[in-house]
Amino acid sequence: MAAVEFRNVSKRFAAGTEAVRNLNLAIDDGELVVLVGPSGCGKSTVLRLLAGLEEPSAGEILLDGKVVNRISPRQRNIAMVFQNYALYPHMTVRDNLAFPLRMRRTPRETVARKIADIAGILDLRELLDRRPGQLSGGQKQRVAMGRALVRNPSVFLLDEPLSNLDAKLRAQIRADISSLQKRLARTTLYVTHDQVEAMTLGDRIAVMERGELHQVGTPAELYRRPRSIFVARFIGNPGMNIFSASVLRDKDGTWRLRTGNWDIPLPPEKLPRGGSPEALRSIRAGLRPESFGSAPEEGTVPCAVRATATEFLGHETLVYFHIPGAQVATPLAARLPGHMALPEPAAELHIHPSALYLFGGDGILLQ
Ligand SMILES: Nc1ncnc2c1ncn2[C@@H]1O[C@H](COP(=O)(O)OP(=O)(O)OP(=O)(O)O)[C@@H](O)[C@H]1O
Ligand SMILES: [Mg+2]
Repeated sequence: MAAVEFRNVSKRFAAGTEAVRNLNLAIDDGELVVLVGPSGCGKSTVLRLLAGLEEPSAGEILLDGKVVNRISPRQRNIAMVFQNYALYPHMTVRDNLAFPLRMRRTPRETVARKIADIAGILDLRELLDRRPGQLSGGQKQRVAMGRALVRNPSVFLLDEPLSNLDAKLRAQIRADISSLQKRLARTTLYVTHDQVEAMTLGDRIAVMERGELHQVGTPAELYRRPRSIFVARFIGNPGMNIFSASVLRDKDGTWRLRTGNWDIPLPPEKLPRGGSPEALRSIRAGLRPESFGSAPEEGTVPCAVRATATEFLGHETLVYFHIPGAQVATPLAARLPGHMALPEPAAELHIHPSALYLFGGDGILLQ
């Protein structure tokens, strides 16, 4: 097993694309970090750099404190599982699992023992004599993971391993990977563009956009304290509602947030520190869909809205709405429990001002 560290790592391809910019990320021994971000943000490049399949243009990659920039992929002892499994179609499951061991001239008895172990762990015993063509997508996925694990890699890399599977199977294998990871405590870097996968699997999540790391933290940290609008929108489904607003100071010294017809008194802990009055007049505010309620509670502020659509999902209802007078490109979303029919078009929602997030013009959290 091994700890991993990226120090100021950048990767610029010959074509000029800067796929990774000044990455700093440390993964503890035995930790599972999920790297998440939209397509093309550089996730696979980060994995390939760690595996040694790409060379960094700048910076250092460390395994257990040793710089491995010049160490060949083979000597790094890192296993990688790809989205398309890359199993050998003409070999049985047993031979697919044995392949990495045979390549290393492992004694026959050891190979048999290791295959038996891994087949037990991944529930593959019944499938050992089949070929990949005779397996379901989920079974192929387990074989691909088995083949990566069988040679006891010090670091385990998974690149969107579940994206070929249907939603139900994805949830099931996600749970399998999670319990396997806890049992084997293998240092793992897991790539996905699916925030649900990231939230449910990761000890910590690293959010990337356009080659840059926005934030690294536990799922709860990213959800409660997103450092940027990008992270706020990316984590949560639907993501955080973001809208333009002004922070105004009244004559009596109290502060409020205004957008369209909404006026929300700002509690002291929400007051942005610093910032000129002009800058505060054009900020961006955020509210999670689940911060809205349909009835007033102690400390809530009513907000008149114009509902545009309702989606009943069984256990909850998503209500999409506009704030009269506010300039918002897309409707905001509120997540209400149960089956909630809001009177369209005029309705009232209620929020706790403490649920507000304030971001500066640069998209960075102000508080
Ligand atoms: N070999 C290469 N040569 C030139 N550009 C490349 C190369 N590999 C990747 N890129 C570019 O680097 C950027 C990051 O690519 P990467 O594959 O790391 O993204 P990703 O986050 O894994 O995306 P996806 O979710 O679609 O798999 C992209 O703009 C891509 O076009
Ligand atoms: Mg990729």
